Amino acid sequence: MEIKDLSGMRKDYVSEDFSEKSLLADPYLQFDKWFAEASLVEEFEANAMVLSTSGSDNRPSSRVVLLKKYSKDGFVFFTNYLSRKGREIDENPWCSLLFFWPHRVRQVRVEGVAEKIVYEDSLEYFKSRPVISQASSSLSLQSSILEDKERFDKMIESLVSSGEDIKMPPHWGGYIVKPERFEFWQGGTGRSHDRFRYDLEEDHSWRISRLYP
Ligand SMILES: Cc1cc2nc3c(=O)[nH]c(=O)nc-3n(C[C@H](O)[C@H](O)[C@H](O)COP(=O)(O)O)c2cc1C
Repeated sequence: MEIKDLSGMRKDYVSEDFSEKSLLADPYLQFDKWFAEASLVEEFEANAMVLSTSGSDNRPSSRVVLLKKYSKDGFVFFTNYLSRKGREIDENPWCSLLFFWPHRVRQVRVEGVAEKIVYEDSLEYFKSRPVISQASSSLSLQSSILEDKERFDKMIESLVSSGEDIKMPPHWGGYIVKPERFEFWQGGTGRSHDRFRYDLEEDHSWRISRLYP
């Protein structure tokens, strides 16, 4: 393949005020504000986030998952506990979440420790999902090698058409990431971007620092 030179790909960003004056003291409220604004303009799901994990082999891995709930307790997503991410979280619960909202030229980074949510909460969400999604997650050995896709699709189809109540498998459920650090990044004109980091202190307050862009 010929070399693709992307050095000329450049866009100027519209500037939005993001300064010590407009910043909220509580990072959860700051997230809530930006999330609400992103939800209005992002064509794709504003709750899509990149989850990065790293197990005992110290090799970081990233993938998109959907944020399904957030509160001051943390950020919740659902997955297969035996997947690559699940295994890595077992080995090392530290995770990074990344939201990129291009229409507002914003990025939010969240770092924290993940833990499994209680079974009842996973079950409640599992039951609220469309039957086809329930069937797929109950039959998928997520992240293992799939030799026969056609067979897998047929198994899903027959489970759905059987009309039987689909059980949530024990290896499926939610994780909650409890943040210890947030970073909010706002793109500005002339590349003068604004970055603010919030670090959780021992007394549970948040220390705010402006970072060089
Ligand atoms: C938009 C989008 C949303 C996704 N949402 C989820 C999700 O909520 N949970 C999940 O397990 N995988 C989700 N995936 C699939 C993951 O990116 C990934 O392929 C899968 O979880 C296996 O990752 P792993 O092998 O690193 O564990 C989503 C992918 C995309 C592109």
